[in-house]
Amino acid sequence: MQRVYLDCNATTPLDPRVLEAMLPALRESFGNASSIHWFGQQARAAIDEAREAIARLIGATPQEIVFTGSGTEADNMALRGAAWRAREPRRKIVYSAIEHHAVLNTARALAEEGWPVESVGATSEGRVDLDALADTVDERTALVAVMLANNETGAIQDVAEVARIARRHGALVHCDAVQAAGKIEIDVRALDVDLLALSAHKFYGPKGTGALYVRRNTRLAALLRGGAQERNRRAGTENVAGIVGLGRAALLAREELPGDAARVAALRDRLQARLLELPDVRVNGSGARVPNTTNVSFGGIDAESLLMGLDLMGVAVSTGAACAAGAVEPSHVLRAMGLSPERVQGSLRLSLGRFSSEADVERGAAAIGEAVERQRSSKRKAAVARA
Ligand SMILES: Cc1ncc(COP(=O)(O)O)c(C=O)c1O
Repeated sequence: MQRVYLDCNATTPLDPRVLEAMLPALRESFGNASSIHWFGQQARAAIDEAREAIARLIGATPQEIVFTGSGTEADNMALRGAAWRAREPRRKIVYSAIEHHAVLNTARALAEEGWPVESVGATSEGRVDLDALADTVDERTALVAVMLANNETGAIQDVAEVARIARRHGALVHCDAVQAAGKIEIDVRALDVDLLALSAHKFYGPKGTGALYVRRNTRLAALLRGGAQERNRRAGTENVAGIVGLGRAALLAREELPGDAARVAALRDRLQARLLELPDVRVNGSGARVPNTTNVSFGGIDAESLLMGLDLMGVAVSTGAACAAGAVEPSHVLRAMGLSPERVQGSLRLSLGRFSSEADVERGAAAIGEAVERQRSSKRKAAVARA
């Protein structure tokens, strides 16, 4: 079966050029970067090169990059690191209701541990409500966390405006840019953020490697204690191959972003247009989005069973739902946008990438159309049988 992958926001395939770059770090350059002999120096040099590539991708200096074990760890480090350094009366953490669970659940955990925490809602477009944010951020706020691109709708947030609001009150700003890297330009100076999270596997790098940008002189506690790696910000022997992969992925993202973005946007628009030809379909959110993502609701459809049907047909898609303790929890993002429970239940996230083709779009759209019609027709038959 020819499979079609339309779930690049969950993860992307490793770019073969990234794999090639990683192999020497797994073979010859296996040294511990903290060792002072030749083997250690090889590993150190590879890490330094990757640090420069990441810094260039986001307009930072290499000294401002801390490598982590994931995007989740980078988000945890930002929120916990800032919270642990916060002192009365400035201890409050403010975050948006459409953040990824890496931010959401860290903020919730901090609330349980005694920090004042407040969340801010979103508009029906899928954007953080900036008026509500301005009303919530005050002189007691230590940190404001707002993502750059939402993982479910692709909606791009006005992070520069978030930073202006935060600055007025002297609060730090954390930006989860995990879904933005490789899709849109990122410039930490223009955004004016203090902290910014990245994850390699969302832009054709390996899983289990991330980075946190920490603006020079930002007061941040370390999550992990141990050796002096990453200038005492993140203890633990570096994942050299992962970091090299992240660096190469960043280099490729910078070189290929303009071409990738235009090509992928055209494919996404075509996929979306094909789906809108079906009856009772609506796009969730509006306004500026990353080029690869669309989120659509199919009237009267249960998207979880649609996803399973599509998987059997060889098409991989996603619903915004999260599986928490075995129970499916409907998308907190779409709910925060005010969508009805039925519309949330019938929503699919489709996300394309560098290796997506026109054939993928055509096959994907045809399969989704068929699966939707099949589910609707069996519902109609069940209704007739009941009557
Ligand atoms: C917006 C966002 N933040 C953070 C993460 C977590 O990154 P990682 O998978 O590297 O832990 C994800 C992954 O889905 C994400 O989409």
